[in-house]
Amino acid sequence: MDLYYFSYTGTSKSIALALARELKIVPKEIKSYSFPYPIWLLFSFIPHFSLKAYFEPQENSYGILIFPKWTFNCPPVTYFLKHTAFEKLFMIITYGGWREKPYGEYYKNLATKRCKDVDLIFIKKSEWEKNKYSLLIKIEEKIKNFINRYNNFQP
Ligand SMILES: Cc1cc2nc3c(=O)[nH]c(=O)nc-3n(C[C@H](O)[C@H](O)[C@H](O)COP(=O)(O)O)c2cc1C
Repeated sequence: MDLYYFSYTGTSKSIALALARELKIVPKEIKSYSFPYPIWLLFSFIPHFSLKAYFEPQENSYGILIFPKWTFNCPPVTYFLKHTAFEKLFMIITYGGWREKPYGEYYKNLATKRCKDVDLIFIKKSEWEKNKYSLLIKIEEKIKNFINRYNNFQP
């Protein structure tokens, strides 16, 4: 699988590196401009807005994408999803503590435009800091179930 992450303050990166180690894959960072916080905050209020991002090319049809919850929009992640297409994409959204569900729905809909099968989970930053090990087991379990769903389907 390909494992991509975008991270501004390090939480998504920390999950990405821990998960990549467990799954024995090399994580790929989605890089964008290094704006200060007020600029990113401003952009995060503009729905659907994408900003050019740089990332290594896709090598697999299954992917994992880890990124933060930003108000309505995380522009480099929006760009990424408009320029990649996976058979299966599992998204992990890290958040501070508020309004994560509608954000997740938005990104699930966006990803579904170019990916056949999409699922997601939310990880609260404070939970990750407290329970890294048990959360990692839970994430791996969810990914395993996601990969296997529909694969055994016999028409
Ligand atoms: C511009 C910006 C907007 C944010 N908006 C929200 C928000 O609306 N809801 C929320 O729960 N957390 C919000 N957060 C907090 C992040 O989602 C949370 O800290 C996340 O774990 C950060 O991931 P990162 O360290 O990988 O960048 C915001 C953070 C930033 C920088």
